[in-house]
Amino acid sequence: MTGSAIFASCSGVPEGDGDEHAVPEALADLGFKTRWAVWDDATVDFGAADIVVLRATWDYAERRDEFLSWAESVPALSNSAEVARWNTDKSYLAELGDAGVAVVPTTLIAPGDGTPRWPKGDFVLKPAIGAGSRGVGKFSPEGAEYAASHLKSLHDADHTVVMQPYQSSVDTDGELALVFFGGVYSHAFSKAAMLGRELDESGLWVTEKLGSAQPPAAFRALAEDVLDATAALLGILRAELLYARVDLVAGPDGRPLLLELELVEPSLGFRQTDAAAAWRFASAVRQQLS
Ligand SMILES: Nc1ncnc2c1ncn2[C@@H]1O[C@H](COP(=O)(O)OP(=O)(O)O)[C@@H](O)[C@H]1O
Ligand SMILES: [Mg+2]
Repeated sequence: MTGSAIFASCSGVPEGDGDEHAVPEALADLGFKTRWAVWDDATVDFGAADIVVLRATWDYAERRDEFLSWAESVPALSNSAEVARWNTDKSYLAELGDAGVAVVPTTLIAPGDGTPRWPKGDFVLKPAIGAGSRGVGKFSPEGAEYAASHLKSLHDADHTVVMQPYQSSVDTDGELALVFFGGVYSHAFSKAAMLGRELDESGLWVTEKLGSAQPPAAFRALAEDVLDATAALLGILRAELLYARVDLVAGPDGRPLLLELELVEPSLGFRQTDAAAAWRFASAVRQQLS
């Protein structure tokens, strides 16, 4: 089998951040020619590729409608446009919670909903449609006026807002990101607390501090539950997800909770793991086309 793959990016970082530098070679070993292309570059024929992989389309949050209609126009998109539509709105967290998955308690506050009852401890307000930690604020009950003003600014920009209790384990243990290819576990990496850090020079994401990690059993089991519940909600097979990143934190009792499920354009932490991860990814690409 031979074929062609396009890795879709955005104009700010047209060849990604370098994390998947080993992947095109791994794909070439299996007969795939890979090139990068900016998703909103009208001169690119995305229909000509055997597979278009969303990799670094990190500017979609401000232009979600445009991004999703482009996604729908690409015949061989991985993950699919339907998955992208569902996963680019953090209200999926409430759906997964309703399906019995252990998620960070999530309250959605739409514009016009009025001022909520603030949580008793520190809490987070963030846009339901957002990425790269932009627009995420941490507040305390004593600083409710700051929270109210952040809520108003997000509502004024027409965002539905996600309110969650602040998970303080993030400060000590960070997040664990568990990465799956074709629905099968590949590797994990850790991410230190994000809030209070600076934006990258691209302006698209907050600089991350990453490391390699071995997730405990309870974390691996929850990530499996997250993928099963997601596949059931979307009416697809787990194997149809070329990649998935499950971001977990320890809750107040130490048990893991889902903070975010990334099915659109997550960094996959190739630099934080064994070299064979690129081969596993290439194998999953082959599986999508067989
Ligand atoms: N409930 C929370 N408790 C602790 N930290 C949080 C919480 N929500 C967000 N954060 C911090 O903000 C960062 C970005 O939030 P996240 O929900 O991952 O959104 P995104 O990555 O899409 O911007 C997280 O990586 C984490 O460091
Ligand atoms: Mg995140």
